[in-house]
Amino acid sequence: MGDSNMEGLTAIFKSWSVHTVAAVGFLYVYLKVFRRVTHKSGRRPPGPPSLPLIGHLHHLVSGFPHHTLAKIAGKYGPIMWLELGAVSVVVVSSSDIAREILKTQDHIFASRPSTVIGDFVFDKGQDLVFSPWSDHARLLRKVCITQLLSPQRINSFKDLRRELLMETMSTAFEEGHANRYISFVDMMNELFMSITTRMLFRRGAGAIKTHNQDFIKTMIEISSSGLFFIEDLIPLLKPLDLSGNLKKLKMAAEKHYDIMESIIDNRLKEKTNSKSCNEEDFLDVLLAMSDFPRDQIKYLLLDIIIAGTETTSETVVWAMTELLRHPNIMERLQSELDAVIGKERLVEEADLQKLEYLQAVVKETLRLHPVGVLGIPHFSREATKVAGYDIPANTRVVVNLYAIGRDPKVWENPLKFDPSRFLNSSINVKGQHYEVLPFGSGRRRCPGMNLALVSLPYNLAQLVHACSISLPEGLTHLDVDVEEKFQMTVGRQNPLNVLITRRLPLDVYRKVGMNVIGQ
Ligand code: HEM
Repeated sequence: MGDSNMEGLTAIFKSWSVHTVAAVGFLYVYLKVFRRVTHKSGRRPPGPPSLPLIGHLHHLVSGFPHHTLAKIAGKYGPIMWLELGAVSVVVVSSSDIAREILKTQDHIFASRPSTVIGDFVFDKGQDLVFSPWSDHARLLRKVCITQLLSPQRINSFKDLRRELLMETMSTAFEEGHANRYISFVDMMNELFMSITTRMLFRRGAGAIKTHNQDFIKTMIEISSSGLFFIEDLIPLLKPLDLSGNLKKLKMAAEKHYDIMESIIDNRLKEKTNSKSCNEEDFLDVLLAMSDFPRDQIKYLLLDIIIAGTETTSETVVWAMTELLRHPNIMERLQSELDAVIGKERLVEEADLQKLEYLQAVVKETLRLHPVGVLGIPHFSREATKVAGYDIPANTRVVVNLYAIGRDPKVWENPLKFDPSRFLNSSINVKGQHYEVLPFGSGRRRCPGMNLALVSLPYNLAQLVHACSISLPEGLTHLDVDVEEKFQMTVGRQNPLNVLITRRLPLDVYRKVGMNVIGQ
């Protein structure tokens, strides 16, 4: 549940108004009947004792859900059954059960439940992220994978990634030269929003740039509402919108769709004016597909913006956080970069495979900080058995990716940031090894994974090799915190203010056309 939802939930419990009391009376009867219908016989997974009306909902009122659920799992086991309001949820917290759900029985669990966000923002899950498993979802995945996220397409965006990172570094050096600290979190959000929107709307860079701040604002507004809503768990509360979150969510999405409308209108106008361009972008591809109504184009574009931007920027921020907390690891990474790249040129994507320690740093970051901590809920399409327990049809399944990456039964010293655990190890983070699943696995595995696995090491390598990044005066590595912010993804709570200056000789930057002040 997002911060604002958590506050909303707490407020609801604290300030029972007359309306709420009436709603609760009704709710009680409803839940009794509902539970009687869903609670057919069968051997359910274990779980803590529940309260009469709300089940286990009270567990989620304070603290972050991924921590709380991991803690409860420590007591009740890797597969648990929770009653959250009117909704039954199976929580998975081990690699073995995750393999069972996401591989062996993926055909049963690849669907998604209907959710407030899917209903309100995407008109009943007509997008990809919140869509049930269907021909529609399969088509959307195919379009994304072949037209935007294939190895060829990813490679075709190489110059764009380099250009936008150079721009970002130039601005950072300007600030650093003037001795001004900047928020690393904001810097990464802006960089990755530019990358995503330029990939989607490759043409008209100038016009798109003017929308980026609005896109960031909407993304943060939608993301801060989180993935769980109290109204998802107690649907009867939906019409009341006691927290005001549903209205906020709808308004944020509408604002975003208005911008999309104007982008699409302009593109269609350009086409009729036959200002043709050889270079087709993702929007052109979608507009050319007859089976894509305009609304669905807007939904899919918003999916990519939300799912592809914050996830990547927050992961780079976590990596930098851990490097600043561990100067010895930062030094080892810099030494590798200096040895392989040298100090006379900048890193290129072609270098990435040679940088073994860099790859280990990225994997370790994804293990310790998988930003999609609870994934996106899965949903059973038919009744089945998992680990000997009966799971009815239409049950929500949440895989706690955070708990799996920190499982002490699998990982030695699981809370320690130690990239060397991935050196000389065959374990990858691509969903084939269930002990670390930052991108999920199976039919619903993140389609942006291959792009992320280029973007993350490239940006991190460049920042560590070409920039000298220091903390505000008086602070040491011991002052860098890892406080989280729970939203749709889990990023840093604090901005990570840093001073960024150049680390390499001036002509290295000038050679690639960067405008860098200094001698
Ligand atoms: C570090 C970066 C990223 C992480 C950690 C991440 C993680 C995830 C996770 C955990 C899921 C849910 C998997 C499941 O349901 O089992 C997911 C789904 C998704 N991701 Fe990513 N992701 C990242 C980057 C991206 C990028 C760059 C894009 C696109 C450009 C993207 C697009 C999507 C989409 C569209 C889905 C929904 C797929 C579906 O429902 O079938 N992600 N991601």
